[in-house]
Amino acid sequence: MFKFPKELAMVVALGLAGVVSAQTSAAYPGVGRDATAKEVAAWDIDVRPDFKGLPAGSGTVAKGQDVWEAKCAQCHGFFGESGEVFSPLVGGIGKEDIQTGRVAKLNDASFPGRTTFMKVSTLSTIWDYINRAMPWTAPKTLSTEEVYAVTAFLLNLNGIVPDDFTLSEKNIREVQQRMPNRNGMTTAHNMWPGKEFSGTNKSDTRNVACMKDCAPEAKVASFLPDFARNAHGNLAEQNRLVGAQRGADTTQPEPKGAGAAAKVVAVAPAAPKAPDVKPVAATAGNVDGKAAVALLSKHNCTVCHGVDKKIIGPAFTDVAKKHAGKADYLAKKIKLGGSGVWGAIPMPAQSLSDADAAIVATWLANGAAK
Ligand code: HEC
Ligand code: HEC
Repeated sequence: MFKFPKELAMVVALGLAGVVSAQTSAAYPGVGRDATAKEVAAWDIDVRPDFKGLPAGSGTVAKGQDVWEAKCAQCHGFFGESGEVFSPLVGGIGKEDIQTGRVAKLNDASFPGRTTFMKVSTLSTIWDYINRAMPWTAPKTLSTEEVYAVTAFLLNLNGIVPDDFTLSEKNIREVQQRMPNRNGMTTAHNMWPGKEFSGTNKSDTRNVACMKDCAPEAKVASFLPDFARNAHGNLAEQNRLVGAQRGADTTQPEPKGAGAAAKVVAVAPAAPKAPDVKPVAATAGNVDGKAAVALLSKHNCTVCHGVDKKIIGPAFTDVAKKHAGKADYLAKKIKLGGSGVWGAIPMPAQSLSDADAAIVATWLANGAAK
């Protein structure tokens, strides 16, 4: 029988001990260090369907209403019905659904919407999502109590818990048993092969890169005729005005050639120089356009505004035309937010410094030239 040499056993043991105690990577000595337990804990915030990871705490429906009105309603609506941009969180649920655990309206093709609480099966998902991602403009700023409270408020709006309810880590499992679509989760589809597919385990897509004898470049065999381009109205105006998706401006002919798409929306000419600029800061009439544009991306204004394109908020060139010379007004509006000038969608208050707001406002008041 083979005998393990004593010396070799020693070497192996020493080697292992070395790896375990090392703080830096053995492969790249001197580079990096192990994360500390506290660092790992700060990242490790997920709450699982069985509520593993849920921090202890509680929050009332009433407190949740305060949180909602202060930090959520401007985007999601006072009753979670949401506006033209954000999808509705509340509605479409009946008392029977709480009994059956399957939302009947999901099978009713005539029902217009699919709200969050119609679809979601696990309450942990709501708690975790709010805790890590909301409010959209300031994620991870809510206290544990606020997350419990606002979750309780949404459960109450959906008729799942009563007005005087306090949600806590102690009763959240019972509330899970009342989730209207708790039995709605399925693995019976190929995207996520479950037991139903044992043996086949095929995914829905199967791409194999062609390595030899590949077909030559694809030929486009049919085109949308020019006369049909605008047949359904301007597609650019029918997209959700959020994110990177804009839709083509079908009132214009299709741009030809590479890079043409970027020119579809004409750049508005700089507004005439404002006669009576009252600058907020020392940066008088000639704020450097580059500096202002850099501030727009630094402060994430460009999530909602294009310089010359409307996104959720108006194009900055349009703002410049409307408020030429009004730097004070603009600085105030940038800091405080508000609604009604360009439509019903509100602009949330922004947390940039007065100095930065003044630079952007002066740049706008002077015509928003790049
Ligand atoms: C500035 C706008 C804004 C504010 C304020 C805001 N949200 Fe949201 N919320 C969004 C957007 C946008 C999404 C969708 C995000 C995505 O799909 O990546 C969203 C998604 C959600 C969802 C998931 C909906 C789903 O079906 O996927 C929940 C729940 C939610 N928000 C709750 C809240 C709560 C609670 C607050 C207040 C603490 C809040 N939101 C504040 C914009 C906002
Ligand atoms: C979450 C989306 C969002 C973000 C982020 C945002 N805005 Fe807005 N902004 C809007 C909306 C919506 C309006 C239209 C409000 C209205 O109709 O009164 C608006 C309007 C404006 C106006 C015109 C005000 C008026 O009364 O005509 C200015 C100026 C402006 N935003 C500047 C900024 C700047 C600067 C930033 C970044 C520091 C910024 N915005 C970030 C959505 C946003």
